[in-house]
Amino acid sequence: MSEKEVVEVSEAEIAVHWQEEGHRHPSARFIGQANMTDPGIYDRFSLEHFPECFKEYADLLTWYQYWHTTLDTSDAPCWKWFVGGKINACYNCVDRHLPAYKNKAAFIYVPEPEDEPHIALTYQELYVRVNEVATLLRDFAGLKTGDRVTLHMPMVPELPITMLACARLGVIHSEVYGGFSGRACGERIWDSGSRLLITIDGYYRSGNLLDHKEKADEAVAVAKKEGQTVDKVLVWRRHPGKYASATPMVQGRDYFMDEVLKGYAGKKVDPVSVPAEDPLFIMYTSGTTGRPKGCQHSTGGYLSYVAGTSKYIQDIHPKDVYWCLADIGWITGHSYIVYGPLALAATSVLYEGVPTYPDAGRPWRIAERLDVNIFHTAPTSIRMLRKAGPDEPKKYNYHFKHMTTVGEPIEPEVWKWYYQVVGKGEAVIVDTWWQTENGGFLCTTMPALHSMKPGSAGLGVPGIHPVIYDEEGNEIAKGAGKAGNICIQNPWPGAFQTIWGDRERYVAQYYAKYCKDQNSKDWRDWPYFAGDAAVQAADGYYRILGRVDDVINVAGHRLGTKEIESACLLVTEVAEAAVVPVVDELRGRVPEVYVALRPGYKADKKIEADVVKSIETAIGKIARPKHVYIVPDMPKTRSGKIMRRVLASLSNKGDVGDVTTLANPEVVEEIRKMVH
Ligand code: PRX
Repeated sequence: MSEKEVVEVSEAEIAVHWQEEGHRHPSARFIGQANMTDPGIYDRFSLEHFPECFKEYADLLTWYQYWHTTLDTSDAPCWKWFVGGKINACYNCVDRHLPAYKNKAAFIYVPEPEDEPHIALTYQELYVRVNEVATLLRDFAGLKTGDRVTLHMPMVPELPITMLACARLGVIHSEVYGGFSGRACGERIWDSGSRLLITIDGYYRSGNLLDHKEKADEAVAVAKKEGQTVDKVLVWRRHPGKYASATPMVQGRDYFMDEVLKGYAGKKVDPVSVPAEDPLFIMYTSGTTGRPKGCQHSTGGYLSYVAGTSKYIQDIHPKDVYWCLADIGWITGHSYIVYGPLALAATSVLYEGVPTYPDAGRPWRIAERLDVNIFHTAPTSIRMLRKAGPDEPKKYNYHFKHMTTVGEPIEPEVWKWYYQVVGKGEAVIVDTWWQTENGGFLCTTMPALHSMKPGSAGLGVPGIHPVIYDEEGNEIAKGAGKAGNICIQNPWPGAFQTIWGDRERYVAQYYAKYCKDQNSKDWRDWPYFAGDAAVQAADGYYRILGRVDDVINVAGHRLGTKEIESACLLVTEVAEAAVVPVVDELRGRVPEVYVALRPGYKADKKIEADVVKSIETAIGKIARPKHVYIVPDMPKTRSGKIMRRVLASLSNKGDVGDVTTLANPEVVEEIRKMVH
């Protein structure tokens, strides 16, 4: 084994291999009402018809001006879609629906406290509020087309309102997940070059009104230290007029949105017609190095792709009540709570809090009350709801026609509970595999065209042509059931355009590995490397095994092990840190931390607690490790590299293999005693 192979460990290597499951078929009732029942779509979206096939998605939108070039590859692999086209995302999600749907709910907001009333925001009301905020952003905050603005907001209606207001002006929004720490937010402010931060005083989580504004001060300070000044902080209030944070407002920098908005009541601003390739937003995600990557998404291509996939894969009709339980702070929320559903004039439900608050019946009460018929969540939530209330769904009278699972592999057992108990055997399930970088779904079954197989995502979606390569770049035979790196042969309109400000890293990370010719302008030479291992079964269905890099998918959220390790190293006593993924019954994978101390320090509980605290400060609570082990020494190769693979095997109670060639084999036994 080469040294590289010895020292690295990835999720895919600790993947659980499930048995092949039988197929389930969608009901005639579902098929009878589905948006896409024509198997000819795969022919229309075959490589032969690429890239023009994607006009079918772009035609779901209203354009100010049609494009002249569907796909421009002149700056490969930075693909440009619908070049020459002019469009506005906000117009497509709001204004154009007014004639037919102004009195229909665009969003129904469900606050976490059960005694707080729901808010139904009609398309007309959304139009009015988005216009007021857009006017404020232009006239009070001085934003103009192309500027970046960082949002650090939780699940409140003001989040999509603010995003759409930015889109109206052609301002690029960068929403940072509300659960991220102030420091993580500050680094993203700096990287995106935002002069404005939009936040909120607080929000509810498990019954507590959290102080969120305190993170803004830290974010601004961190950004400043990196060299980016924030001029203004706009603060929404969870209860307008009542400030819920203990952190004082900073004079001349911080402003309450509800107060400033009074000056903009009823104001309107025309949507700005922008080139299709103008960025709509940046979404940061974790990569293999410590620095998060800003995935830059386009306006025309992205919106076309999320509209098309929302229509045909989510099967959204305007009359549906659609509920995606993700957080808008992640890509799933951007694509499949806000932009995709709204482009189709859907009613999209926003839920503020945790699914199991105050009890595991909450989601099903919401579903019953709002008559939700499309439901979308991640395996982590499904596992939690199953554990906390396996029979709860039966108590409520709701009926889903369609359900989605996204973000992690779903165990067949969990899938079956989702299907039989949550879906009551009536709902079709799509297991959608994709990533922050992709804008929308890559692999899944088409709900009315294919049968479902528990634990498998399905085929490439129309217009997406996957291929599995081995490490040397040889194609693994189709349907061979052999693991390799899943790649996509062709570009697609939803794909990110680049990493914000770092084209080199974009090329290196996603395209260099399997590029056939670095100078080529032909897309055929640039397969997209997803960073996931997968197998394709004989029936053509892909099963995703997990990441092949230093990324851990925790409860459906991506965290870089290097980011966590850097946080550990900030603790004075810590000399070395290694973070490995460990299988978790509820959260799929979680990080487990091993640290070795500097000479002269002794292990104690305080150091463990400091490590956890440092991780929470650097990233947020979602990165909290399952355990922190203070070890006498790290298992190392003779050249001094930490053997993460050995640690991962110990954490996952697996076989460590032959460790006799290590520099310090005896330490493995010592660590095993600690861990087991
Ligand atoms: O490993 C894959 C896993 O989640 C990663 C992408 O994470 P993120 O960018 O945060 O986006 C999550 C939601 C789109 C992938 O590289 N993943 C995503 N969906 C699935 C999945 N693993 C298995 N099955 C899925 N359906």
